[in-house]
Amino acid sequence: MSSAPLTIADFETLARQRMEPTAYDYYAGAAGDELTATLNCRAFDRLLFRPHVLVDTSRVDMSTTVLGERLALPILLAPTAFNKLANPDGEVAAARAARAAGTIMIASTISTCTIEETAAAAPGFLWFQVYVYRDRGVTEELVRRAEASGCRALVLTVDAPRLGRRHRDTRNEFTLPDGFGIRNLETCQTVIAGAAAWPHTSSFAAYVHDLFDASLSWPVVEWLQSITTLPVLLKGIMTAEDARRAADAGVRGLVVSNHGGRQLDGTLPTIDALAPIVDAVGDRLEVLMDGGIRRGTDVLKALAIGARAVLVGRAYLWGLAADGERGVRQVLEILGNDLELAMALAGRPTVASIDRSLVTTDR
Ligand code: FNR
Repeated sequence: MSSAPLTIADFETLARQRMEPTAYDYYAGAAGDELTATLNCRAFDRLLFRPHVLVDTSRVDMSTTVLGERLALPILLAPTAFNKLANPDGEVAAARAARAAGTIMIASTISTCTIEETAAAAPGFLWFQVYVYRDRGVTEELVRRAEASGCRALVLTVDAPRLGRRHRDTRNEFTLPDGFGIRNLETCQTVIAGAAAWPHTSSFAAYVHDLFDASLSWPVVEWLQSITTLPVLLKGIMTAEDARRAADAGVRGLVVSNHGGRQLDGTLPTIDALAPIVDAVGDRLEVLMDGGIRRGTDVLKALAIGARAVLVGRAYLWGLAADGERGVRQVLEILGNDLELAMALAGRPTVASIDRSLVTTDR
């Protein structure tokens, strides 16, 4: 019997075997009782397909565009911190895999490789995720570096004015191993005390509390757009009300996200938050989503509700931990093959042919 990984769950098993237990917990864990993290996955199971048959699916085309960029498949790599906990090549390996699959990686501010290294691994296929430090000079410098290294868009994360309470990390006294750092901050000209130094001294929650700007409010969206010509997306929108404000503020896209359940526990699952947001602003900007995607059929359900594309966080981290760049490629291949087959079996051979009539919650 072959033991090659066939599913994302298989990759998680391999990752768990290969990773330091505290690092695995940092990736797998979430806030509070991890209710939202669990619901993010389970909520997909309540949506069921209404497939059409006798549709010509001899050719299935998963390609799409996101903000005008053509992608081979509607699955991007979500911004996730500290990729070197999974593999020594860290974000660079993930970016190479994204490029090979013809899709985009969104590099986190708090990466273990620099923006420049990561962008060089995937020219044209990198976006940059922005956390806003109290010292705006730092954020401005990071934005300049993202632009200079060819990033195509900025993703402002708006659901983390403070860090969610993550019990696994507290119990484990989780810190980055020696030799790992927040490389983008270590290489900044604008120096703020402690920004690059975490976490040998204190918890990551304390780092965020001390350095991130918890006073962020809507004007920051205007500010960010005023200092860049790149398109700006907001990540972490969960309600139609906020989505409308985001559209009014002129952003180009949203990521419906609850941070993989790592921030406010008890938040509704993202697949349930998606429909009202698409209905409110889907004609004004592009709506992406993330949270709980572990199968190609999950991707198809999100597209059916109206997502332009999805992001995967933990799924790619498990591939990275299991087998570096090759593991991330395999994860994208599994999700892509699974999606392609599901599109054929659902009688929806193109992304444009996928609509809400494909899913129902009725039994
Ligand atoms: C994240 N996420 C995240 N988001 C962000 O905007 N900046 C970041 O630095 C991080 N870091 C991070 C680390 C780890 C280990 C995880 C698991 C997640 C959230 C991420 O972008 C995404 O919203 C979720 O991962 C989506 O949920 P799934 O796909 O992990 O279920």
